[in-house]
Amino acid sequence: MKVTQLDCLCVILLHLLHTAGSERFEVLGPTDVIAVVAGDDIILPCYLKPNISAEDMTVDWLNLDFIDDRVYRYQNHRIIQEDQIPSYRGRTSLFKEELWRGNTSLKLTRVQGTDEGRYKCLIQSKSWYDDFTIQVLVKAVGSKPVVSIEGHREGGMGLLCESEGWHPEPELLWLDSKGVHFSARTLETHRDFKGFYRVKQHVIVQETDTNRFTCRVQQSRINEKMETEVHLPSELFDTTPWKMSLIVLCCLGAITVIGLALAIYCICNNKDNLTEQRDDLKKEKDDLTEKLDDHKRKLEILTSQLDFVNTNWSPDVETIRRHAVDLTLDPDSAHCNLILSQDGKQVRHGKLNQVLSDYRKRYKNCSGILGNVGFSRKFYYEVQVEGKTEWTLGVVRRPINRNERSRPIPYKGYWTVELKNGEYTAHADSPVTLSLREKPQKVGVFVDYEKGQVSFFNVEDRSHIYSFTGSKFSKKLYPFFNPGGSDSVSLVICPVDATD
Ligand SMILES: *[C@@H]1O[C@H](CO)[C@@H](O)[C@H](O)[C@H]1NC(C)=O
Ligand SMILES: *[C@@H]1O[C@H](CO)[C@@H](O)[C@H](O)[C@H]1NC(C)=O
Repeated sequence: MKVTQLDCLCVILLHLLHTAGSERFEVLGPTDVIAVVAGDDIILPCYLKPNISAEDMTVDWLNLDFIDDRVYRYQNHRIIQEDQIPSYRGRTSLFKEELWRGNTSLKLTRVQGTDEGRYKCLIQSKSWYDDFTIQVLVKAVGSKPVVSIEGHREGGMGLLCESEGWHPEPELLWLDSKGVHFSARTLETHRDFKGFYRVKQHVIVQETDTNRFTCRVQQSRINEKMETEVHLPSELFDTTPWKMSLIVLCCLGAITVIGLALAIYCICNNKDNLTEQRDDLKKEKDDLTEKLDDHKRKLEILTSQLDFVNTNWSPDVETIRRHAVDLTLDPDSAHCNLILSQDGKQVRHGKLNQVLSDYRKRYKNCSGILGNVGFSRKFYYEVQVEGKTEWTLGVVRRPINRNERSRPIPYKGYWTVELKNGEYTAHADSPVTLSLREKPQKVGVFVDYEKGQVSFFNVEDRSHIYSFTGSKFSKKLYPFFNPGGSDSVSLVICPVDATD
């Protein structure tokens, strides 16, 4: 048999017609409105006729009130999340196991007010498409109205009625005891983000024989209503105190008006005077503002300088440490309640039954002890205070009265810093309370004899603690140590390693 080109073309055309024909379908669903109660789950039915598989097709569910976005899309065997209307997120699904028999119904969970509307079920194959539109009505019965009494208003009693959670939008009615509707102010309606309605309305009622009033909220489309009755005791309508207060208010008002008139009169008379005063005050204010700004600037400069000094002594540390001296403690100067270590580098509070020589230089009243040598040049040493709750460090000038009970100050020959009761104090002529960022564990003491300066440093973070300046030294200065009486941890003189 001979196959001509024409035959071939015919076969192809027939084949195309056949496939096109087999792809044709209708999309069907319910023609009635689907009413659903808010909060329930709902199935929006939609299916293909004939019941061919929709597995390879694109299924779109659209809410016709939204122009660009979709409720749901199934395409290439996947759910497409892009462009989904946010309020439907996580609440929609198809029945995957039903797609092969042309069931493209949509399941929508936890129905809310915004879900009401017309939904289009649109199904497309490669060569054909069709759609069907379904109407959904959401019903929600709101809360029982709450009536509150607002007090006397415009010659009557003010009431407010509120109810929420309705869909569709309800109406609100006020009724008297005979069920007669009476007019009220305008109805205020709000819609929450889930699309439910809240209504409220103010009303002013006059005293009646029963004083019973009803607030009714109703939705006739879904044939639902809720109502609340209030009974107002007639004493509430007793307006005597109210009238009295009105009279008092009127009197007060009149007095105020008279007062104001007088004031205005005076002000007008004094206007020039006042204008002058105002100008003066304004000038003064400007001056003060300027001064304040000036001071603020100065403060800023000083603060930055202080920061600089605090953070920049470290470049100098090597210079200072070059003046380190080797010290031991002088047992002959020790107070009787101090215990020294064998090497003379540590001292702590405590009592031994030691027989002490009665040196005149021994401390009697304050539990102090001196270093074994005095200096009249630059010198530096470091003392470990870790774990201690009380200490005093510094330098003293000899000779001094060791029986003295008063505060150790420069005038008396003491330049010291003390820790006591959690507070750091520099014993200048009047005590200076120090606020330190870190609790020092090791304290460095530096004396610049020529300059008349005694400085204290926190060795760990190389920060400056305090400096006594402007003293005039003429006698040797001796290192002074007082471990205090509140703990038995030792003060330790540390070797200064210049490269530390
Ligand atoms: C499709 O419809 C035909 C008749 O209309 C029915 O016999 C068949 O069971 C249906 N198939 C499916 C998968 O529902
Ligand atoms: C589609 O499938 C769902 C879930 O099984 C079912 O409830 C619904 O009735 C089906 N719809 C049609 C038109 O077959």
